[in-house]
Amino acid sequence: MSWNRRHVLSLADFTPAEYDTVLQTASSFREVLTRRTKKVPTLQGQVVANLFFEPSTRTRSSFELAAKRLSADTLNFAASTSSITKGETILDTAKTYLAMGTDMMVIRHKEAGVPQAIADEMDRLDVKVGVLNAGDGQHEHPSQALLDLFTICSLMDVEQPRSTLLKGKKIAIVGDILHSRVARSNIWSLTASGAEVHLAAPPTLLPKEFAAFVKESDPSISRQLFIHWTLEPALIDADFVMTLRLQKERMTSHLLPSLREYHQQFGITRDRLKLCQPDVRVLHPGPVNRGVEISSDLMDDPVLSLISQQVTSGVAVRMALLYLMGGGKVG
Ligand code: NCD
Repeated sequence: MSWNRRHVLSLADFTPAEYDTVLQTASSFREVLTRRTKKVPTLQGQVVANLFFEPSTRTRSSFELAAKRLSADTLNFAASTSSITKGETILDTAKTYLAMGTDMMVIRHKEAGVPQAIADEMDRLDVKVGVLNAGDGQHEHPSQALLDLFTICSLMDVEQPRSTLLKGKKIAIVGDILHSRVARSNIWSLTASGAEVHLAAPPTLLPKEFAAFVKESDPSISRQLFIHWTLEPALIDADFVMTLRLQKERMTSHLLPSLREYHQQFGITRDRLKLCQPDVRVLHPGPVNRGVEISSDLMDDPVLSLISQQVTSGVAVRMALLYLMGGGKVG
């Protein structure tokens, strides 16, 4: 097992061995979640605070459930009903939770870098509190990409999900890539696992210089990343297609002609999947704009769509992350 992190803020420097550690650990927790008593005492007495400064359904609930399944005490915070509305700073909010004995903080914020800033402050104070980035602006969403990886690898080998299964697989990521922290984290994990990643979006949502950020990574990992401004080349022979929500709340100008036209050009439908491998599967991190990035019937297809499996995987993967960061034992 390879793990030496107090915080999980980004996947940029994750190694294949670390991905495998997360996958194996999540696999043990998936087994725990099939037992009659779906709980282990691993984090008994520890406090996990969910600090969500931005709306969330699945990420927040799944971290809460993961912490509870590990027997931690959980604190839930929502910015709109907190002292943030009275002018308290984010760092002071974090210190308030620290003073209550919080051991791990799960943080979502609309600005990139907030989880990192809180982690830096915790390290400066030398309090040994772990910080997990649950989505920061357009930057990263590591636990989402890890649950996507777990979902894909488990489909290929449910007993032993491991990153090498992705070697040579073609994965298309389609949609609002520019605004997507999910895409950025997935680019790190999927390319590090040896998959060929094909991004497809209109140029306004995928500037040609977009992929430059991967150049700053470990040169010993060769990453295969391609950019397309039309859908077809990304879909041809793809093994997996990941669709993304159009993030209207992050669009500062009119980047699209109309949702109807977007769906006609980039919407994923059953018909379009005929270009892919015969056993292709579709992922979406949610929340979905039905009928925009994916057709409603495809989203609900029990075979082609992995969307519910992604949500289910989320609990086991987040248990794995909290467990690894907390340094416990699987019971
Ligand atoms: C994503 C997010 O918030 O980054 N959703 C999620 O966490 N499952 C994607 C999105 O909002 O479109």
